[in-house]
Amino acid sequence: MPLSTPSFFLLTLFFFLLFNLQPSFSQQQFSSFNTSHSPWQPSQNRTLISTNKNFTAGFFPLPNTTLFTFSIWFSQVPNAKGIVWSDTTRVNSSGSLVITSEFELLLNGSPFQDTANTNASQLVLENNGNLVFGNWSSFRNPTNTILPNQNFTGIELLSSNGKFRFIKSQFLVLNSTADQYYGTPNPLVGMDDAGKMSMVGNSFLTSDYGDPRLRKVVLDDDGNLRIYSFYPEQNNKWVEVWKGLWEMCRIKGKCGSNAICVPGEDLNSSTHCVCPSGFNPNQGGSEEGCTRKKSLSQDTKFVRLDYVNYTSDGSLTEIKAGNFTICESGCSTDKTCLGFGFKYDGTGYCVWLTGTNLQFGYWSPGTEAAFFLKVDKSESTPSNFIGLTEVMQTTCPVNLSLPLPPKDSNTTARNIAIICTLFAAELIAGVAFFWSFLKRYIKYRDMATTLGLELLPAGGPKRFTYSEIKAATNDFSNLIGKGGFGDVYKGELPDHRVVAVKCLKNVTGGDAEFWAEVTIIARMHHLNLVRLWGFCAEKGQRILVYEHIPCGSMDKYLFRVNKSHSNNDKHLKDQSSPNTPQQKPTLDWNMRYRIALGVARAIAYLHEECLEWVLHCDIKPENILLGDDFCPKISDFGLAKLRKKEDMVTMSRRRGTPGYMAPEWVNSAEPITSKADVYSFGMVLLELVSGIRNFEIQDSVLRSEEWYFPGWAFDKFKEMRVEEILDRQIRNDYDSRAHFDMVNRMVKTAMWCLQEKPVLRPTMGKVAKMLEGTVEILEPKKPTVFFLGVEE
Ligand SMILES: *[C@@H]1O[C@H](CO)[C@@H](O)[C@H](O)[C@H]1NC(C)=O
Ligand SMILES: *[C@@H]1O[C@H](CO)[C@@H](O)[C@H](O)[C@H]1NC(C)=O
Ligand SMILES: *[C@@H]1O[C@H](CO)[C@@H](O)[C@H](O)[C@H]1NC(C)=O
Ligand SMILES: *[C@@H]1O[C@H](CO)[C@@H](O)[C@H](O)[C@H]1NC(C)=O
Ligand SMILES: *[C@@H]1O[C@H](CO)[C@@H](O)[C@H](O)[C@H]1NC(C)=O
Ligand SMILES: *[C@@H]1O[C@H](CO)[C@@H](O)[C@H](O)[C@H]1NC(C)=O
Ligand SMILES: *[C@@H]1O[C@H](CO)[C@@H](O)[C@H](O)[C@H]1NC(C)=O
Ligand SMILES: *[C@@H]1O[C@H](CO)[C@@H](O)[C@H](O)[C@H]1NC(C)=O
Ligand SMILES: *[C@@H]1O[C@H](CO)[C@@H](O)[C@H](O)[C@H]1NC(C)=O
Ligand SMILES: *[C@@H]1O[C@H](CO)[C@@H](O)[C@H](O)[C@H]1NC(C)=O
Ligand SMILES: *[C@@H]1O[C@H](CO)[C@@H](O)[C@H](O)[C@H]1NC(C)=O
Ligand SMILES: *[C@@H]1O[C@H](CO)[C@@H](O)[C@H](O)[C@H]1NC(C)=O
Repeated sequence: MPLSTPSFFLLTLFFFLLFNLQPSFSQQQFSSFNTSHSPWQPSQNRTLISTNKNFTAGFFPLPNTTLFTFSIWFSQVPNAKGIVWSDTTRVNSSGSLVITSEFELLLNGSPFQDTANTNASQLVLENNGNLVFGNWSSFRNPTNTILPNQNFTGIELLSSNGKFRFIKSQFLVLNSTADQYYGTPNPLVGMDDAGKMSMVGNSFLTSDYGDPRLRKVVLDDDGNLRIYSFYPEQNNKWVEVWKGLWEMCRIKGKCGSNAICVPGEDLNSSTHCVCPSGFNPNQGGSEEGCTRKKSLSQDTKFVRLDYVNYTSDGSLTEIKAGNFTICESGCSTDKTCLGFGFKYDGTGYCVWLTGTNLQFGYWSPGTEAAFFLKVDKSESTPSNFIGLTEVMQTTCPVNLSLPLPPKDSNTTARNIAIICTLFAAELIAGVAFFWSFLKRYIKYRDMATTLGLELLPAGGPKRFTYSEIKAATNDFSNLIGKGGFGDVYKGELPDHRVVAVKCLKNVTGGDAEFWAEVTIIARMHHLNLVRLWGFCAEKGQRILVYEHIPCGSMDKYLFRVNKSHSNNDKHLKDQSSPNTPQQKPTLDWNMRYRIALGVARAIAYLHEECLEWVLHCDIKPENILLGDDFCPKISDFGLAKLRKKEDMVTMSRRRGTPGYMAPEWVNSAEPITSKADVYSFGMVLLELVSGIRNFEIQDSVLRSEEWYFPGWAFDKFKEMRVEEILDRQIRNDYDSRAHFDMVNRMVKTAMWCLQEKPVLRPTMGKVAKMLEGTVEILEPKKPTVFFLGVEE
């Protein structure tokens, strides 16, 4: 059929349009820019595209202006958040980029970047996002961003506000190397396609590497270095998958001179600046600094600022001071001394700062020290950095030996309390305590999100491979215990740390869930908690790697094995010492009191600082390990979370340790709360006093079939026959003058913990205070008889 004239015309027009659109389209997106394309102007709407189409370069409009910068961005993210590199020159719409006939690259007539000595015929955008002109490349001249496959060696990043630098592939600094505030464990080498950021020495940073995603490493304007992954499925969000600093206040330059940086009310990145007593905020100053209310004269004193660290604009002198007085007097006699830092851990750490102003002040538990700020004697405002210390009290002194049992002193308890409240370096160390400070502000949900898979800190629990665990434990050859949660093996890591490796049984949930839970457990730092160092989740294995506590569990010290009727606990027996038939040393009253207090505080920490999230649910002497100086350490905390309630009940029954379970475990009408742990602790407390297993019927005390240990103890206690409850092994050491108060408090507290109704039991925080003697203990009611029911 012959074509009619109009349809032929239309067809011609169609082909005309088709062939003419095609070249005009390719003219707008080219893969290299050369002389024949010059000049290139912002108004032309042209872009340079990498051959794989993943990156685009061109004039990018600056927001809210009519200006442009020559930039490179992810083609998939054509907005300001996709930009990975930018030239600093701003041009207007008539600006131009030209390759001259002499092969020079000129932007608005001047050499582009530092290409003055480079002649080349074309500008190319490579597949990895590298813009290349002769021997000049954007990868060797980065701005604030690094891309996968970009060589990190020998380059520097500068934050776009020009304030912070990342230098030597390792250190974050403010202005100059002198003001370094962070370093990665090893120099960074680069990131591969899968997002794995390698460091020198075959190590790498923990992030979300694995699946192919758009990723970038950015030195943000807040001074932190972060790795971001692009999640199109999450509303095209850049998700932070790693960051250098968790405490933003450690970044220098957050506050002005003399001010102290304090974390903001969320975990994200906010901080605020606080003036110490004796100082007022700067009026109208550009930076948030502080000025002295009254300049220093002859009469001065010191204000204590706990966990505050300063630097000065003058010099710093660090000495090893024999005691606090030496450190203090050194500063008070020096006119130029502005204050001093001191550690209470017995190391004699003492730093004097001189100069005219203090700088870079920040609060962090990781400082492990207090700062003593010199102010005028007339200054009456109390220190605003004192209360935070009390959270960090602990029961075990570091580098201090156990006080000798006093012969005739009723101040024993107080001495212990004093020693116990000394700062302990170990406890305070680490970012973890930061969390207790923040608990007032953040809810568990936020915490869990932050700690989830997407945001693992570099310092989080180490993920071991199964073969590493196998090597460390010598193919699981040294079984040291069998607990409710699984078998425990002793092992040694390549760095010679001795570990206890626990292979969990019957754990529910997927890998990601397990990882998230473990991360939270690993964040629980307390001197009286066993530290979790790492884990393994491979091939269905669920393995936890703990620090090894050499002395073993408390039950072996408390309950004499050579007594009869111990068959009941044979399931629980730690098998570490088949070769040690000799008696373990007997725990004296002071040790027992200290163990009780330490355990109470650690549980209180778990319940209160950790927002009741970590109910222990399995408190018994087997789970209380004794470290150096018989410092108690709770193990297995947080693991209950990995199990279901029904499992817990059946497990405990099968294990034959009903003695520590609160009534609500079998009475399903009552919810399980933290008060269940209080009950278990009450039992342990009573056992500490009596040296008798609560569910073991002792020949000597067996009077009736209705043997109920707490009830029996209560009766003795009421009859003022305390001696009959006391452990016979140390009954002779009992000196009513020296010990009555301590023992009385322990028994009374236990009675309150063992109340049948959970509401009547005190909280764990209160229990700790009752033991300390800082609250009055009312007369408890007799704990009612409670039977767990039939046992098989
Ligand atoms: C510039 O590049 C185009 C391809 O993009 C090519 O056809 C042209 O010959 C090149 N011109 C010069 C002068 O190299
Ligand atoms: C610029 O060119 C792209 C294609 O290269 C096109 O999608 C876009 O609409 C153009 N923008 C303007 C303002 O012309
Ligand atoms: C380009 O990006 C796509 C996803 O947008 C990715 O699958 C591909 O691997 C990338 N190519 C290169 C060479 O990075
Ligand atoms: C640009 O203007 C919009 C609205 O006027 C404003 O919300 C935005 O913050 C501005 N952006 C910048 C970078 O100033
Ligand atoms: C663009 O900037 C140049 C100088 O960089 C100036 O001479 C020119 O007048 C400006 N043009 C417009 C339209 O603003
Ligand atoms: C680049 O070309 C310019 C202009 O022709 C010339 O002056 C210069 O010497 C050349 N530079 C190099 C490194 O070849
Ligand atoms: C590039 O090469 C030229 C001449 O070969 C040299 O002068 C210049 O320093 C080189 N630039 C870089 C960044 O290596
Ligand atoms: C990275 O750059 C450094 C210095 O420029 C060079 O020595 C090294 O070989 C480069 N590494 C890779 C993997 O290209
Ligand atoms: C950092 O540099 C800026 C400008 O170069 C200067 O104003 C500021 O005082 C410097 N800060 C420090 C702490 O040296
Ligand atoms: C942290 O930032 C994210 C996104 O910017 C926000 O959704 C979240 O609410 C913030 N968290 C807190 C505790 O402010
Ligand atoms: C501190 O040590 C000095 C010198 O060793 C000593 O004279 C002084 O009495 C000590 N002060 C205290 C409070 O122990
Ligand atoms: C205080 O900060 C300085 C400088 O960052 C650091 O060298 C020092 O170790 C810190 N002191 C403490 C006790 O953390």
